[in-house]
Amino acid sequence: MGLTATEHTPGVYFIDDGAQRLLATRNLAPGRKVYGEELITIGGVEYRLWNPSRSKLGAAIMKGLKKNPIGPSSKVLYLGVASGTTCSHVSDIVGDAGHVWGVDFAPRPIRDLIDHVARYRKNITPILGDARQPQGYSFQVPRVDAIFADVAQPDQAEIVVKNAKLFLKKGGYALLSIKSRSIDVARDPAEIYREQVKVLEAGGFRVEELVELDPFEKDHALALASLV
Ligand SMILES: C[S@@+](CC[C@H](N)C(=O)[O-])C[C@H]1O[C@@H](n2cnc3c(N)ncnc32)[C@H](O)[C@@H]1O
Repeated sequence: MGLTATEHTPGVYFIDDGAQRLLATRNLAPGRKVYGEELITIGGVEYRLWNPSRSKLGAAIMKGLKKNPIGPSSKVLYLGVASGTTCSHVSDIVGDAGHVWGVDFAPRPIRDLIDHVARYRKNITPILGDARQPQGYSFQVPRVDAIFADVAQPDQAEIVVKNAKLFLKKGGYALLSIKSRSIDVARDPAEIYREQVKVLEAGGFRVEELVELDPFEKDHALALASLV
């Protein structure tokens, strides 16, 4: 059987090879890989396979995230962008009409993001900055439709709330990757997820979904929240 590509949500695809369903995005930089992922051309369109074990957003989609607020033409603030593995797929999804501002406080991954990813994708602005001090990059980032946060810090939800106050449109969405081990290795992850949800709610969000990411990421969940 030949390969087929089906759009799952705008900009996100499942490629079916008859035996399995693989997550993918359309490659905005044809011919270029970011992290060794496979490139597959179907009907003249080049897709990049999206490894859910390397990306919490990919894992959440595979685990049944119902709504993905990041779609074609979205403006996204990405906190904890690292060298751009997940960011490259977000860049594919938002396309030329959208934009991603990617923040990380570690110089090395930001340099890799610039040299190996953003150079070939005009819709990514890499920012060396501390997500706890959003005023430091407020001159570079406009109001956005969505904030994606994957900083793996004990105050990860507070960081989202702080950034949302400065940058998120009313009715916009936050996607928060919660790493329970960043908060307490000994406690029940479900209890930690509930606490993080409360922090988002106290910051003006309504939490619409909470998706656990195992087996792709152990002791992680992704919260989808809208700013009310
Ligand atoms: C789990 S990794 C991110 C992986 C990346 N999101 C991906 O899927 O490709 C967490 C990143 O958050 C960054 N980080 C942690 N605390 C931060 C902070 N306060 N401000 C900016 N970046 C931070 C780290 O340097 C690290 O690169």
